[in-house]
Amino acid sequence: MAETTTLTDLFMDSLKDILFAERQILKALPKMARAATSTDLKTAIQSHRDQTEGQIERLEQIFASMDMAPRGKHCPAIVGILEEGQEILDEYAGSPALDAGIIASAQAVEHYEIVRYGTLATWADLLGLTDASKLLAATLAEEEKSDADLSKLAKARINTKAMAKAAA
Ligand SMILES: [Fe+2]
Repeated sequence: MAETTTLTDLFMDSLKDILFAERQILKALPKMARAATSTDLKTAIQSHRDQTEGQIERLEQIFASMDMAPRGKHCPAIVGILEEGQEILDEYAGSPALDAGIIASAQAVEHYEIVRYGTLATWADLLGLTDASKLLAATLAEEEKSDADLSKLAKARINTKAMAKAAA
């Protein structure tokens, strides 16, 4: 059993933060998927939504292993990132640049998650929480893959499409 340290408190606090964030993300992704015009982008966002359910389950497992209720903690950072995403949906509805904006918003979310999970996995290691560390690393790998997939989509077509129509 890991000794309780101030780092344990910090770890638990951050775990509550990312749980809140994941739950907000789970609600926001379907709106982004519906708004996207590219089928590939819709599919990518939808599959990340499904993945997010599993990521929340992993977090709940970690809470259970630490005898903690899976309670989130309000995270103004993700609220702000998601609000900006919603602004893009509102302001660029019908624009050829909408999908490029959605990808940018989704990547802002991914990068937030990547930094949080990276930190949490490192702290879990330091605290000797081997199972938690493995679960967090698994989610981190999924977030990194989602981010890379979004970059590929943007570079393959969507950014160009946004530019071409704007120039016409
Ligand atoms: Fe996630």
